[in-house]
Amino acid sequence: MTSPNIPESHASAILTIDLAAVRENYNILKRAVNGVECAAVVKANGYGLGADKIGPTLVKAGCTKFFVAHLEEGIKLRNYVGDAEIHILGGLLPGASDAYRDHQLIPVIGSLREFAIWSSYTKYSNLPCDIHVDTGMLRLGLPPDELRQIADNPELLAGLNISNVLSHLASADELESSQTGKQLKAYKEARDILPMGNACLANSSGIFFGTPYHFDMVRQGVALYGANPILDSKNPMQPTINLKARIIQTREAHVGDTVGYGAGHKVTGHSKIATVAVGYADGYLRSLSSNAFGYIGEHRIPLVGRVSMDLITFDVTQVPVNLCTVGAWVELIGPNHSVDDLAKEGGTIGYEVLTSLGSRFHRIYINE
Ligand SMILES: Cc1ncc(COP(=O)(O)O)c(C=O)c1O
Repeated sequence: MTSPNIPESHASAILTIDLAAVRENYNILKRAVNGVECAAVVKANGYGLGADKIGPTLVKAGCTKFFVAHLEEGIKLRNYVGDAEIHILGGLLPGASDAYRDHQLIPVIGSLREFAIWSSYTKYSNLPCDIHVDTGMLRLGLPPDELRQIADNPELLAGLNISNVLSHLASADELESSQTGKQLKAYKEARDILPMGNACLANSSGIFFGTPYHFDMVRQGVALYGANPILDSKNPMQPTINLKARIIQTREAHVGDTVGYGAGHKVTGHSKIATVAVGYADGYLRSLSSNAFGYIGEHRIPLVGRVSMDLITFDVTQVPVNLCTVGAWVELIGPNHSVDDLAKEGGTIGYEVLTSLGSRFHRIYINE
């Protein structure tokens, strides 16, 4: 739900999305892979930022290849990225081959069943597909024995236009994990079996494992949107979003008073509580209850009590009164408090914070 005719002055919460920062992140990643092709993952509505804006922004930055999860996402994205390639990670839905052809969408084939359908549908028509190989995630993709069945049967491969052979890293954000190295080895073995098309393995974090992971193309998502792809290190990406919400009421509280549902916060001294117009219906996760921070200017304020559907409550006792009047803004995500900070407080990851960003926010896109 967008709010094109509602003035900013009426907004309870404003989500500002900086498209120049998204472009800059694309360029940072391009530099990191030294000219290797950079495809963009824009599934889940461009990780919550709006695929209708993110798609054209990345096209402008020079991106010609996009990945989404579902067929419907691909059909919608076609309106925003011109003739760019759109790859569907979820593969080939039964009975949907015509839709892939009609909207120029490229299925990422992840099973022998899909392989058989696409192969008979496209024989000698040159319609492209990708092949997803499973290197240890047990989610999507052909395991090595199935890959061999295809490779050993040239009849199956004849006339098939394979664009990319890809796999996905399961633990690339965990620097200590041994799984990433094992997957690299498994992926190289898979490439020996199926050497056609481009090789593509790395996601955002994988890019920062260096050249051996880059192959012919990388496929980044979350880093484009500003989350840190190398956890516990300085974030090399630009922040892309700012989320602020208004104080809509302030209350004096005294020892013994409780705040919110379930009396989730017990007041231990004379305090001032500010009620802010955001809740779990906006993707401000309930797991943040009593465990997050906001900012008023430079003042860090603790969230107290449970997150409810439309409201959260902060203890603003320490904030000068003139800064926490009704209508004042509280920074929830911004220069003082990143997406990753909020994710950590909620016991989750930046991906979930981004893709949960609600549809009620007044959205402002800057630097288009
Ligand atoms: C198959 C696949 N490739 C690439 C990506 C992009 O990953 P990231 O957002 O970590 O860059 C994802 C994201 O979930 C994915 O599922």
